[in-house]
Amino acid sequence: MDDRPIGIFDSGLGGLTAVRALAAAAPWESFVYLGDTAHAPYGDRSRQELVALSRQNVGFLRGRGVKALLVACNTSTANAMDVMLAENPDLPVMGVIEPAAEAAVSATETGRIGLLATAATVASLAYERAIRRLAPGAEVTASACPRLVPLVEAGRTDPSDPELAAAAREYAAPLLAAGTDTVILGCTHYPIIRAAIRRAVGPDVTLIDSGAASVGALLKALESCGALADKNKTGSRAFFCSAGKETFTRVGSAFLGWEMAGLTQQVEL
Ligand code: DGL
Repeated sequence: MDDRPIGIFDSGLGGLTAVRALAAAAPWESFVYLGDTAHAPYGDRSRQELVALSRQNVGFLRGRGVKALLVACNTSTANAMDVMLAENPDLPVMGVIEPAAEAAVSATETGRIGLLATAATVASLAYERAIRRLAPGAEVTASACPRLVPLVEAGRTDPSDPELAAAAREYAAPLLAAGTDTVILGCTHYPIIRAAIRRAVGPDVTLIDSGAASVGALLKALESCGALADKNKTGSRAFFCSAGKETFTRVGSAFLGWEMAGLTQQVEL
């Protein structure tokens, strides 16, 4: 048993989609969440910058005594997972791409899988590699969505927001044209605008939430090394952001359905 917190990071609000899944599945686990809002969005950055930012975030969380790391950011997972694994051999480090690829491969009936993700995730081809390892015949159609994260970070999550609706339709179009039956929300921000994406892809496509998929894999990894927390206690929750605390807590609280303001500190990274 290990009651130390799980460290979770993202460029901003996106990783809260993993937090929501974690709080529902394992309310006994404590966590420390970092949203690096000062440097968001991550999606258009180079691998070199993403490695540096991922190191910064891991260093911050390690400084808070975490027992494991959940990289709740597809862009960091795609571009810096190798470095984070190599530099943190003493901790379980879980990314979001392998679990989401597994969920998509089990969900698809046609073998045609769509990917909505940031430009840096799409360019890395990390999803294609993960999916082909599991299902060599699968066809992956990817669409980079640079306008979505800035809209989410600005709190524009209403599916009838005309700019959001138009962007979602534009990004979904190549996936629909390729006949995909399963679409990976390959950026943890996207489940926050799930309603807009659902409208754009229609009712019949299965949507895979990469943040939620990773939580199941993380809990299994903790269980296998005897590091789950005491299930008779309620875990503690702490949030940090590196800029814009007011918007971060307002949009985050609305998404999580609980008040984050008193639990959140703004820090300089
Ligand atoms: N939520 C992150 C991801 O999963 C980062 C998005 C961004 O900052 O561009 O890719």
